[in-house]
Amino acid sequence: MSTEDPIWFTPPPRPSKPPAAPGKAPAKQVDITIDGKAMKVPETMTILEACRSLGIDTPTLCYLENLTPVNVCRVCVVELTGARTLVPACSRKVEAGMDIKTDSARVRLSRKMVLEFLGSSVDLSTAPQVQSYIKRYDAHPERYGEEAEKVHQPVKVDNDLYVRDYSKCILCYKCVEACGSDAQNTFAIAVAGRGFDAHISTENDVPLPESACVYCGNCIGVCPTGALMFKSEHELRKAGAWDESKQKQTDTICPYCGVGCTLTLHTQDNRIVKVTSPMDVSVTHGHLCIKGRFGFEFVQNRD
Ligand code: SF4
Ligand code: SF4
Ligand code: FES
Repeated sequence: MSTEDPIWFTPPPRPSKPPAAPGKAPAKQVDITIDGKAMKVPETMTILEACRSLGIDTPTLCYLENLTPVNVCRVCVVELTGARTLVPACSRKVEAGMDIKTDSARVRLSRKMVLEFLGSSVDLSTAPQVQSYIKRYDAHPERYGEEAEKVHQPVKVDNDLYVRDYSKCILCYKCVEACGSDAQNTFAIAVAGRGFDAHISTENDVPLPESACVYCGNCIGVCPTGALMFKSEHELRKAGAWDESKQKQTDTICPYCGVGCTLTLHTQDNRIVKVTSPMDVSVTHGHLCIKGRFGFEFVQNRD
């Protein structure tokens, strides 16, 4: 072998930054009409997203940006010209040529009926969003009378962190989604029973401390009615001392580990009364673990 032959492979210099991900072809644009207004939108959009891009406030109960749509509440329905049934805006994708009506008499009646059925059977006293929809659609749940069947049952207080009051449950499935593959992957809760008897349950309806629950509280974070509530909030409400007008919200970073989750501390009278996380933060998408969600007592423990 000649001494001039290169026998060592010299690698090219290392890139100074990670290579860019392969580019994605932009989604095809389709023509649709919403409430008489023609527009072009990407075909990957849902009707709800298209409505929101126009500033149309479509009501939703079972939909949340950080969860997979399950289409169970039907309060978001819209009318499509030529379609036999109303369609859920939260999960139906736009299609070329769709003529969408978001506020027709049929849509308003359907939304009103959904809200009346919920309002006549469920305690919505801690669900301001649903209350505002009831007002907007001139729904009168009371017209079903005192005899209307209710999902009433005693509040479940079986642990120190949160309480479950299924008298307030609208069966939106959000807690099941958050406990399952959308966030926590613990699958501690599911829907049991059928028809009016359908309800959220642990496996075999065991008390929470005997279930697979790891107390991340992600189910509380997504519950739209207060059926799932911090014990701290439940106790303050019971004592008549819960006062949101006196509360402040402060964003900070969780001190427990290196992940760096954003916490929103809700404080009243200089005490932390509950902890949430913003949905638009990429680290958490609104979800936390037990330490971030419930570990705040050490801050105010003066002993
Ligand atoms: S606290 Fe977490 S693990 Fe327990 S039921 Fe809720 S989401 Fe599931
Ligand atoms: S407990 Fe809350 S989140 Fe779960 S289904 Fe009922 S209303 Fe929805
Ligand atoms: S928000 Fe669309 S079906 Fe519930």
